[in-house]
Amino acid sequence: MDLNLKDKVALVTGSGRGIGAAMVRAFAREGARVVVSDIDGGNASATARALVDDGFEAIALECDVTDVASVQHMEKMATQAFGGVDILVNNAAWTKDVYLTKMDPSLWDKTMDVILKGSFNCAQAMLPGMMARRWGRVINISSRSLFGNPGQTSYAAAKAGIVGFTRALSQEQGKFGITVNAIAPGFIMTEQMQSLPKFEQLREAAMARNPVGFLGEPEDVANATLFLASDAARYISGTTLYVTGGRYSS
Ligand SMILES: NC(=O)c1ccc[n+]([C@@H]2O[C@H](COP(=O)([O-])OP(=O)(O)OC[C@H]3O[C@@H](n4cnc5c(N)ncnc54)[C@H](O)[C@@H]3O)[C@@H](O)[C@H]2O)c1
Repeated sequence: MDLNLKDKVALVTGSGRGIGAAMVRAFAREGARVVVSDIDGGNASATARALVDDGFEAIALECDVTDVASVQHMEKMATQAFGGVDILVNNAAWTKDVYLTKMDPSLWDKTMDVILKGSFNCAQAMLPGMMARRWGRVINISSRSLFGNPGQTSYAAAKAGIVGFTRALSQEQGKFGITVNAIAPGFIMTEQMQSLPKFEQLREAAMARNPVGFLGEPEDVANATLFLASDAARYISGTTLYVTGGRYSS
């Protein structure tokens, strides 16, 4: 299947490390020009440099998705470098697991700001260019956690919100040749995840509930992203693709 992503411009927020870094590499391998964007400018630069060293076209932009001016600047720089953004992946996320009765309201606000407001800010900045070119892709990263885990009221609310955001935006954008979809990953083995003190406990719990008998890698989410970004997925919009190995609500 030809994904037809050659020379497309893909911008992935929060792609300095983890799943986002796997996504920019996957897009680059398909011949896309990539914008590695992250609030951590050092990680964004290192990820982009590794791609350029491997012969791919990539730039790094430091951007805080919660800050409208920072997002607008990112759009301007990306357009200056590559002529416009065709594919936006809203991947950046932040959360802290705390039971609601003990949660400082600032933690709730920050989770909402990065996940929901950040996706809104980036879509608002990138969509006019896509609308003008009559082609575009917005892929919003949700999570299987939208079904709810203890300690994750804010994260589950934000990731469930991403699904509603995706459905509504898909209805607004279809007539411009733009599809809007979400991906809900399950447990994914990132380096960050493996560095958690409770990693073994988390891994065992995830394995016990996993129908396919193995845990996902960042590339599993990246592959789903490539598909939704491609012309092969031109008739798919407003949906949520679960990349969970078959695990859903329990
Ligand atoms: N790893 C998993 O098991 C898993 C499961 C389900 C969903 N997800 C989702 O997948 C996406 C990537 O997850 P990950 O595991 O790679 O996470 P990660 O924490 O390793 O990466 C998130 C990136 O977002 C960046 N970021 C945070 N705040 C930002 C801001 N304000 N502006 C710009 N960038 C910001 C961070 O610097 C980091 O590089 C997230 O949306 C996450 O919620 C991950």
